[in-house]
Amino acid sequence: MINVALLGFGVVGSGTAEVLDANRAQIEKYVGDAVAVKYILDLREFPNSPYASLIVHDYDIILNDPEVSIIAEMIGGAGVAYKFTKSALEAGKNVVTSNKELVARHGAELHSIAAAHGVRYLFEASVGGGIPIIRPMTNDLAANGIISVDGILNGTTNYILTRMTNEGAPLSDVLKDAQANGYAEADPTADIEGLDAARKIVILAALSFGKILDPDAISVEGITAVTSEDVKTAEALGYKIKLIAHTEQVGGKTLAMVSPRMVRSDNPLYSVEDVFNGILVEGNMLGKAMFYGRGAGKLPTASAVASDIIDIAANLGKASRPMKWEVATADDMADINDYSCVNVFIFEDVRCGVSKLEKVFGKIDRAVKSNGRVAFTAPTMTEREAAEKAANAGVPFVKKFRVI
Ligand code: HSE
Repeated sequence: MINVALLGFGVVGSGTAEVLDANRAQIEKYVGDAVAVKYILDLREFPNSPYASLIVHDYDIILNDPEVSIIAEMIGGAGVAYKFTKSALEAGKNVVTSNKELVARHGAELHSIAAAHGVRYLFEASVGGGIPIIRPMTNDLAANGIISVDGILNGTTNYILTRMTNEGAPLSDVLKDAQANGYAEADPTADIEGLDAARKIVILAALSFGKILDPDAISVEGITAVTSEDVKTAEALGYKIKLIAHTEQVGGKTLAMVSPRMVRSDNPLYSVEDVFNGILVEGNMLGKAMFYGRGAGKLPTASAVASDIIDIAANLGKASRPMKWEVATADDMADINDYSCVNVFIFEDVRCGVSKLEKVFGKIDRAVKSNGRVAFTAPTMTEREAAEKAANAGVPFVKKFRVI
């Protein structure tokens, strides 16, 4: 019997107990031994839960029980979750997590503690909910140099933007539904301000380029400034607005960013709707590969947590390749002003505006006018050039969206 302790009995924690129970026989066959939850740590009581007898409130019971070889941390945040994870790894216990904030902020240190104690720290559920992405990037794409990753990495915002696009619904109403469905973070600010996606792209950037950036230091813009007028403008241009997390190397340094972008209809991310996530990885040998599935929600995310538990259980005692991440210094971070892409610029539609704009931007794709605004797609340029042109166009600038 392989004993597991769950830390946190919220949406993902209770889902993990259910997944391990629902597929118990198949998991036992795969692992070659039964995998059972021995303890569930939570501050609360759950008298009506079938798992009520497993609830404990003292972490030391788990830490000091030599029968527990795997701990699944689903507390979230980088406070007590960090303390518990560190002490578990130091005590020679394997840890799996869905906690993207913890992996993004302390992943390098926790991986090195795990390696020093001959145990594993796995985090499949931290990015993309139920979508397999961490293991494929770690193992299956190891023969590739990663060129770039573009992802719709936050289910809540994708759900909101999809409903804003399809129904013209306001953000606040749709957010309530996302929370009711268990997609949103405890504090949904992390979703709508792009912080959740920032933590996830920082993890994918580390898997791609070996350096883990500070999620607070990268360029992050959420969806709160996206209006229904912007959504209509995108539609008129043949695009859809999605919150896109992106990483690539610029001048040998790592760039990671999150922003609402206009997505072209020929990009596979265009069709990623509702709570689904899509991750487009470009390898230098493979070309582009798309990973798609449910990026949030109880059982999808729990299935990723359970997959890590099963991986460890099936390989207990076997040596594994340590994950080597370096903490990025300021010098490892690319300057976003050096990043180039196509943009949609939106200006106020003043008299003679379009001819002035054409002089500044050169060849532009057809201009779309509505509600006192003019929008067009400009050729590829750096962020620095885009800011200069917007400021010097001689027409009041409203905003721009990067295009993918
Ligand atoms: N709040 C997150 C989301 C949950 O909406 O994607 C999954 O990480």
